[in-house]
Amino acid sequence: MPSYVVETPQQRYFAKVERGILSRVPYYVPDSAGRIFIITTRDVWDLYGGRLRRGLTDRAHEVLFFPGGEQNKRLAAVETLAEEMIAAGGDRSSIVVAFGGGIVNDVGGFVASIFMRGIPVIQVPTTLLAQVDAAVGGKTGVNLASGKNLVGRFHQPHCVLIDPDVLASLPEREYRAGIYEVIKCGVIRSSWLFNLMSEEAKSILAHEPRVVESMIAECVRIKAEVVSADEKEGDLRRILNFGHTVGHALEAETGYTQFLHGEAVAFGMNAAVHLANLLDMLSPDECLSVLETVRLYGPIPSLRGISADALVARLQQDKKTVKGRVHFVLPEKIGRVRVVSGVDEELVLSAVQSALK
Ligand code: GLY
Repeated sequence: MPSYVVETPQQRYFAKVERGILSRVPYYVPDSAGRIFIITTRDVWDLYGGRLRRGLTDRAHEVLFFPGGEQNKRLAAVETLAEEMIAAGGDRSSIVVAFGGGIVNDVGGFVASIFMRGIPVIQVPTTLLAQVDAAVGGKTGVNLASGKNLVGRFHQPHCVLIDPDVLASLPEREYRAGIYEVIKCGVIRSSWLFNLMSEEAKSILAHEPRVVESMIAECVRIKAEVVSADEKEGDLRRILNFGHTVGHALEAETGYTQFLHGEAVAFGMNAAVHLANLLDMLSPDECLSVLETVRLYGPIPSLRGISADALVARLQQDKKTVKGRVHFVLPEKIGRVRVVSGVDEELVLSAVQSALK
């Protein structure tokens, strides 16, 4: 079964993709660990808690419920979870198992990063988006009223355990939202993965196990490679933000309620390839190929009424905008991207307008 090593100055660990690994999670908890805190949501626990708990019978553990939802991904939730851990006897030997989608991975990882100044976390992602992106790479954190993920830490996990079997119960819309992040991985670093997404859409949408497993594995391989080269996003890791610059603007403009993150990234990728094409970086054929592949997994919710000017204005407020300079990750060809800044605002507006059509 595929297993990829992430090696950063902070930690060396593996991310493993393996059907059924959920029932083997306890095997990966170090013998030296004290109390195990499973941070999860009620719905994930009702569906899969039994499988995860199997094998934990002789280990001291506690299940802590996070209410879920972007609106609850706040410092208050972190404080509540930390208080619950103290009340249940947590100490420096404790370990967190973050068991859920991207939000749980972010919050659980953040709690682990600051509890008693830092304890280990095992990431067990249960959505496609979390499996191919959020759970690997150590980004943890919460939202502020003024924006998403504005408080957080890099806290690399002890390991990441990915069980593709749990995707069977994932709502179709969330599954497709995760697929857009897979397409992103293909465009930035793997023409093989991109071709798989273009050519095997039918099997992927039918959740065919072999093809789903290979697309997850390829994303994890790419993520492990990129994070190992640049843990703190000083350089190479920025390529993972392909589609995110305009995608974040769309999420913010629509109050984080209309679009799932992956759907906003799909829109952002469309805008980015239009922009790359306007800048003569990407051929019209490859631009079309990305647009068509994204469309295969759509549609995303309606974009009616969204103003291109408003989206472009929001780019200035993005967390990744440094000293007023907006950076775009743009493809030069499928499988290779470059970070570009100082792009003429009229061209950006035109690309966003094309993506809105
Ligand atoms: N989700 C992008 C990253 O982990 O850097």
